[in-house]
Amino acid sequence: MILYFSATGNSLAVARQLAERLNERLMLLTEAVQQDLTGEKRIGLVFPTYDFNLPPAMPEMVAQLKISPQAYVFTVITCGSMAGNCVWVLRRILREKGIELAYSHKVSMPDNSALAFGRNPNKQLGKYERVPARMEQIIRELQDESHTLHYSWFSLLSWLLGRPAVERGMIHYLGPKVNADKCTGCGTCVRVCPMENIRLTDNKALIGDHCTVCLACVHACAQQAISTNGKETLKERQYRHQQIKLKDLLLR
Ligand SMILES: Cc1cc2nc3c(=O)[nH]c(=O)nc-3n(C[C@H](O)[C@H](O)[C@H](O)COP(=O)(O)O)c2cc1C
Ligand code: SF4
Ligand code: SF4
Repeated sequence: MILYFSATGNSLAVARQLAERLNERLMLLTEAVQQDLTGEKRIGLVFPTYDFNLPPAMPEMVAQLKISPQAYVFTVITCGSMAGNCVWVLRRILREKGIELAYSHKVSMPDNSALAFGRNPNKQLGKYERVPARMEQIIRELQDESHTLHYSWFSLLSWLLGRPAVERGMIHYLGPKVNADKCTGCGTCVRVCPMENIRLTDNKALIGDHCTVCLACVHACAQQAISTNGKETLKERQYRHQQIKLKDLLLR
């Protein structure tokens, strides 16, 4: 079983390929927390890096998973370039459940947070070129049930820097804000939010206080009505993985 969390499709593209090649089922992490997965022999966790760490909502979700201590548990982490502390935080959370993380690797993809800093994720599409070779290595190692945690020594630096976004107060900077004048009430942001944190009131999107700063809503809004880090969202900076359609990211 491959469990995934994905705002703009990078992790979904990786999770899909793993599911196809390893002949495993694919499931949203948000759905998996409600399931009994103790019968699964192999569990993969595929998710993005946020601030050198797990997405803020993930530790609680992983802690809630019902998986067997005998399962082969692995992770493939997507990131812009540095997955930082993710593997160690995930390993600790799993250990607290009596489960050993057997394998980890990362896949670098366009950084979807770039638009929050006035940069363009769509100018990073060259990163796709290195993905196939990394995926082949990962699939080969997973087929062999390898016990290896791949990580870089930069992780040490990012361990020092990296604490969850919410804890660091990054959410106050990156946190999405709706421009009501632009919002048409189409509801797309409501449907992509993994935290069920957006609702429509008087035909306008209203963001609640359970944001995990994934930026899914910011990238998906066809009106560019949601800003982040106080920066107006430009259409050319909105990003979605090239193999993933908007409908693949609609959660409800
Ligand atoms: C709030 C936030 C923080 C991020 N922090 C990092 C980071 O510390 N290091 C990194 O390499 N990429 C970082 N990224 C980039 C994402 O990890 C990367 O684009 C990922 O592949 C997105 O996956 P998704 O499309 O499945 O959501 C960050 C993205 C967001 C939204
Ligand atoms: S996706 Fe954009 S236009 Fe549609 S409801 Fe959300 S903020 Fe409004
Ligand atoms: S409100 Fe937007 S950024 Fe926050 S969790 Fe929902 S989709 Fe992600």
